[in-house]
Amino acid sequence: MRITVCLTQTRPEPWVEGLRAALPDADIQAWEPGAPQADHAVVWAPPQDFIDAQPGLRGLFNIGAGVDALLQLKLPPETQVVRLDDAGMSVQMAEYVCHALIRHFREFDFYEAEAREGRWAFRKPRERADFAVGVMGLGVLGERVARAIGQFEFPVNGWSRSPKAVEGLRCFAGEAAFDDFLGASRVLVNLLPLTEATRGILNSRNLSRLNQGEPGGYLINVARGAHLVEADLIPLLDSGQLAGATLDVFEVEPLPADHPFWRHPKITVTPHGSARTMREASIAQIAGKIRAIERGEPVAGVVDPKRGY
Ligand code: NAP
Ligand code: GLV
Repeated sequence: MRITVCLTQTRPEPWVEGLRAALPDADIQAWEPGAPQADHAVVWAPPQDFIDAQPGLRGLFNIGAGVDALLQLKLPPETQVVRLDDAGMSVQMAEYVCHALIRHFREFDFYEAEAREGRWAFRKPRERADFAVGVMGLGVLGERVARAIGQFEFPVNGWSRSPKAVEGLRCFAGEAAFDDFLGASRVLVNLLPLTEATRGILNSRNLSRLNQGEPGGYLINVARGAHLVEADLIPLLDSGQLAGATLDVFEVEPLPADHPFWRHPKITVTPHGSARTMREASIAQIAGKIRAIERGEPVAGVVDPKRGY
């Protein structure tokens, strides 16, 4: 069995070494133009030239959860795309979102500013019942995040494409329930995949519906930059309709130095690191799936190109 590794923005060598250790019988190489046809590929943002040069791949293993960039390429119809299925990401995402939520709810920015001035000042405690959190996307990451938020006793709403029943969550499904979901949520967490149906979903119309249309909504976007209509955000913040936003992902990454999000007082920016790929866990998962596929067994995380995730 031959496996090729084609990673942009990531050094392939540690992946090649790790995969060789996990699959000692396979021939595993970093891809170079002219390399022979492989059975499987381990990829991150590969160029179209790579796909065109490897038309007979059976499995294309993405070293991330989101496959939006991969699905932009022209892929051979027989090639199965497999996304990373947690592999250490969901706990990171839960940490990140709970941190952003609690930082906002407990007004830590206020206390930090007061502490810098040496002031001992209290704010009136807020009621968590007034801070219902809506999690968009109840997949591998969204469900874990929703459960983690529930541990802090916030009311939690979840929205997915297909109906779900998750203990402790008020679940909404499909477009018809979207406005009700938004209205019932004050803090919105985006964990949707980027598809034709979800591109631009964080826009002025939808964000204004948070919190039954009352001012004070808060946005946490940890999925993809193109979910947010960036030009809509600052007017909502400046008018007070939204109280703030924590953004980990952007239309253009790295976020350009002159982008207004960097300096806006109500926006917290992080550099697309809310849930990083953990190399050891990912290699173990991908190697396990390759072994299962070779035995003719089904694997989790197979992407449906028509659905887009
Ligand atoms: P997932 O397991 O595929 O879950 C996707 C969820 O979104 C599912 O619940 C799905 O509904 C729902 N959904 C999809 N299209 C929808 C629509 N049109 N309307 C309503 N719900 C819809 O994905 P995941 O592993 O949780 O990851 C989610 C995304 O997080 C990734 O695609 C990636 O973009 C992003 N991500 C970001 C980072 C980061 O560091 N910032 C790291 C990892 C991942 P069903 O359950 O009904 O199918
Ligand atoms: C990161 O953004 C991922 O999709 O894994």
